[in-house]
Amino acid sequence: MSGVIVVGSQWGDEGKGKIVDFFAEHADAVVRYQGGNNAGHTIWHGDTKFELSALPSGIVTKGQLAILGNGVVINPEALLAEIKEVESQGVTVENLIISNRAHVIMPYHIALDKASETASNNRIGTTKKGIGPAYTDKISRVGIRVADLIDPEIFGKLLKEYLPFKNAQLTKLYGEEALDYNEIYDKYVEYGRQLAPYVTDTSYLLGQQMKENKRVVFEGAQGVMLDVDHGTYPFVTSSNPTAGGVMNGAGVGPKQIQDVVGVIKAYTSRVGSGPFPTELFNDTADHIREIGHEYGVVTKRPRRIGWLDAVALRHAVQVSGLTKLAINSLDVLSGLKEVKIATSYTYKGEAIHHFPASDTWFQGLDVNFETLPGWDEDITDVTKFDELPINAQNYLNRISELLEVDLLSFAVGPKPEQTHLLRPVWE
Ligand code: GDP
Ligand code: IMO
Ligand code: MG
Repeated sequence: MSGVIVVGSQWGDEGKGKIVDFFAEHADAVVRYQGGNNAGHTIWHGDTKFELSALPSGIVTKGQLAILGNGVVINPEALLAEIKEVESQGVTVENLIISNRAHVIMPYHIALDKASETASNNRIGTTKKGIGPAYTDKISRVGIRVADLIDPEIFGKLLKEYLPFKNAQLTKLYGEEALDYNEIYDKYVEYGRQLAPYVTDTSYLLGQQMKENKRVVFEGAQGVMLDVDHGTYPFVTSSNPTAGGVMNGAGVGPKQIQDVVGVIKAYTSRVGSGPFPTELFNDTADHIREIGHEYGVVTKRPRRIGWLDAVALRHAVQVSGLTKLAINSLDVLSGLKEVKIATSYTYKGEAIHHFPASDTWFQGLDVNFETLPGWDEDITDVTKFDELPINAQNYLNRISELLEVDLLSFAVGPKPEQTHLLRPVWE
């Protein structure tokens, strides 16, 4: 067994990119298995900041295979632009590998995402990157895959077949402009030509890697609470960020997984609409947002902020089978008199310990908090767990206790040297 899955355990932006990059140092391959360029993963190497949306976070570390699995949706234009961007930052992409089975985000997916959000007054608050419409087409069996994109004849045939339906939706339903076949065809055939050298059967390749006992990190985008099955539906993304998503999205079996690391931010943030039981609307939220620079990487929207939610996290532990915890951004809480953790919810007078499935439940929900004393010290230079202020240690220990999962690491800043392991990643 040599696979480690890194899963966002909240509503995204937990610091997964940083953790994946940190693990990549000791890995042979990093694989994205779902989502697309709705993700925004921040990585620091020295003074250089990388903001990756389409590329796997392993790309920054030299030598590792950086794989986009079949479960990912790919915007070729955005991917090629991101390749250019990281190359200008000194990164080589010769180890990039793209699944021939991954689906392509087409211009009509983006147009439809934008049109439907506009028409519904930003109902979901999507990133407007075409993610939902691309996955919809995949499931409806009218998607275009990378294998099709790199074959101009097949691509032209499929585009000719599907575009009229998309244009009818855009013009008749939303009053938008129709998209031009020739313009898309010429552009996308050229994108296909540029991407073709990276394309292969990634599941086969991963099988080989696993046979040779190579270490593979599976990089989740988004987070459990944005999962289309297990998240706060309908305010979710259209894929499965949970650990289960790896099996389908990378084409590997469960026995090839050694650990599932849940990445947690020491508080909670969310962008977009939807339930957020521990959300704060006070000075503490503003303080955390400013200290934690809580603005979206992709859309630059201010992130909603709240206390840590152990009810939601226990749900994440359950649906992803988390075996270890990586807790980030502990430093952001320094200076607060007290810190709170939601431990249960009350609905119609009764305490409930599970995360509700129905959106209507959230209207009448009361959240029960446990309050712990905070700490004043600047902890950004701390390197060992027992050098942390005792209240910070107690906070981390309490999270581990409430979730019944061991701590793997804690972080006191965004740089890799500010992430500290309590035990090895690969035992
Ligand atoms: P991802 O989408 O899960 O990869 O996370 P994002 O990159 O969208 O958001 C995480 C933000 O928190 C980024 O700005 C990171 O640089 C930052 N960050 C990550 N870990 C830490 C930490 O331990 N402390 C602080 N202060 N910031 C962190
Ligand atoms: P990373 O990987 C936080 C949110 C959007 C919206 C919902 C659906 O950086 O953690 P979509 O465009 O996917 O159809 O939007 O999901 N969302 C994210 N929130 N982090 C992300 O990715 C997200 N990707 C999508 O804000 O609420
Ligand atoms: Mg992000």
